[in-house]
Amino acid sequence: MKKIAKLLLLLFITIQFFRPEKNINQGNHLAGFINETNPPENVKTILTHSCYDCHSNNTEYPWYNNIAPVSWWLSEHVKDAKADLNLSDWDNYTKRQKNHKLEELIEVIEEAEMPLKEYTWVHQEARLSPEQREAILEWARRTKALYGLGPLPR
Ligand code: HEC
Repeated sequence: MKKIAKLLLLLFITIQFFRPEKNINQGNHLAGFINETNPPENVKTILTHSCYDCHSNNTEYPWYNNIAPVSWWLSEHVKDAKADLNLSDWDNYTKRQKNHKLEELIEVIEEAEMPLKEYTWVHQEARLSPEQREAILEWARRTKALYGLGPLPR
């Protein structure tokens, strides 16, 4: 028993040396997105508290991100999230892609899939009230029209 405990401790210590690269960007990485889609203040606040940690080039890490394997798990989440939607990369999406990203955004908000539950368990402030959900949807539907492809949903 003692031997197994020692081995596990050694394993735990060893994995601490494998640190995933952090998603950190101090620059003005959201300027393109903000300028073009022009979210009102209340929507900006929602995006900041509920979405940017995973869907932008800058994550504000909690202290426990310093501990493996949590750090690996968070890193994978951010990687997957950015592969689907990286708001810091807005300028590099085509009009068609922007239209599609907003359509997906509308869907995940309507279906309350985002922000991820694992995230709102620890980030209470990221939970969306019905009013906040309505505000982000209103902005997203209006903005989607900017990209001029197809009618607005509803
Ligand atoms: C904790 C990280 C996290 C947070 C916070 C988060 N997302 Fe996501 N998001 C993901 C991951 C991971 C995916 C990839 C798909 C999946 O695994 O569910 C994703 C996928 C998406 C997609 C693509 C869905 C599709 O159909 O392909 C959209 C759109 C999206 N998120 C919007 C948002 C919005 C808007 C917010 C804020 C209200 C948000 N997300 C907050 C992690 C997050």
